[in-house]
This record gives sequence, C-alpha cells and structure tokens, in this order.
Amino acid sequence: MTTTPPHPDLSCALYSADQIQKRINEMADEIARDYGHEEFLAISIMKGSFIFAADLIRCLSARKAQPVLDFITLSSYGSETSSRGSISVLTELTLPVTGHRILIIDDILDTGLTLHTTRHLLYERGAKDIRTCVLLDKPARRSVPIEANYRGFQIKNVFIIGYGLDYNNRYRHLPYLTTLTPPPSP
Ligand code: IMP
Ligand code: MG
Repeated sequence: MTTTPPHPDLSCALYSADQIQKRINEMADEIARDYGHEEFLAISIMKGSFIFAADLIRCLSARKAQPVLDFITLSSYGSETSSRGSISVLTELTLPVTGHRILIIDDILDTGLTLHTTRHLLYERGAKDIRTCVLLDKPARRSVPIEANYRGFQIKNVFIIGYGLDYNNRYRHLPYLTTLTPPPSP
C-alpha cells in the first residue's frame, strides 16, 4: 500500500484546461454532425469520465444536439495503475437502452476491456446503434481490438491524472491533464 502519494507533475501539464476545451469543441462538432437533431443516449462511464462528459454535453447542446445523459459505474483500477483483467457493473444505468442510439463516453481507452465489455453489454440489452467517445487513447496498451469512434488525444504509455482521472481516487479535481512523478525520497 502507498503511504506517500505520488506527486502530480504540476510544472508541466500534458494538456492545459484550454487545450482540453478546444479539443472537446472539435469533438462536439463531429458528434453533432453525425447525430444531427436525433435524440441519443449519452452514457458516461463513472467515475473517470464525469468532467469530460459534463463539458462534452454542454458543447453538444450549443450545437443543438439532443443527448440524454445516464451513468454507469464499472469496476475500476482501485489503487493500481494497470488493468485487473475483468470488468463488473458496480452501479446500474437508470434508463432503458433497448432500441436507442447510444454514445458511450469514457475518459481513456487503455487495454480496451472497459469499452469492449460495455459495448457488448449494451448490444445484448438491445441497443440499436453504439458509438464510443474517449478523451484519451493509449493504443500501446491495447489488449482487446477496439478503437473509439471519437478520440480527443492519442498519448504514450504514461499514467495520467486530472480532469476526472485519478490515481487511488486522488487528483480528479485538477483542471488539466498531467502525469505522475515518483514520490520524493524521505
Ligand atoms: P481499460 O479497460 O484498460 O481500457 O481501462 C479503462 C479505464 O482504466 C479508464 O476508464 C480509466 O478509469 C482507467 N485508466 C486507464 N489508464 C488510466 C490512466 O492513465 N490514468 C487514470 N486512469 C486510467
Ligand atoms: Mg474509467
């Protein structure tokens, strides 16, 4: 167990709050173009994507798109920085998915297990059409063959925190994306 939390690299944000907003606006252009004025279910995977989803749907609203928001919580990394290998549902959706067009929103596409499992689950429940949207993509870590329909930034194999992403539930509140640095020696 970690006693001293690693330090966020505050000196050098990977992406600043402004860069993130600019990219989300571009993604919203694409998504709004694809869905038009048709209603769709935007499913935000908790907890990591809550800030991204909040910003994205407001950008979509500005473009007259019609997302209806719901949330699902899946098992997470906990205190680890690598995938456990299996995903389970911790808290359920509140809205029916049968017959609906769905946009899955997640913070980061890493091994691909989360997105793959969620997509499979929603198709089994009768979703009509599913697209996927992630802010970050780490293709080097992929163990399941899946790509997102909409992707903010492609990044190297580094562990990211901030803007909703956590390490051991810390750092979600940072308004920018950054990496962790090792804890200082005692
Ligand atoms: P996957 O199932 O391996 O694709 O992992 C996706 C989930 O792992 C994301 O929704 C995140 O919650 C978490 N995750 C993966 N990489 C990172 C990271 O660099 N920082 C924080 N969380 C991460
Ligand atoms: Mg997540």
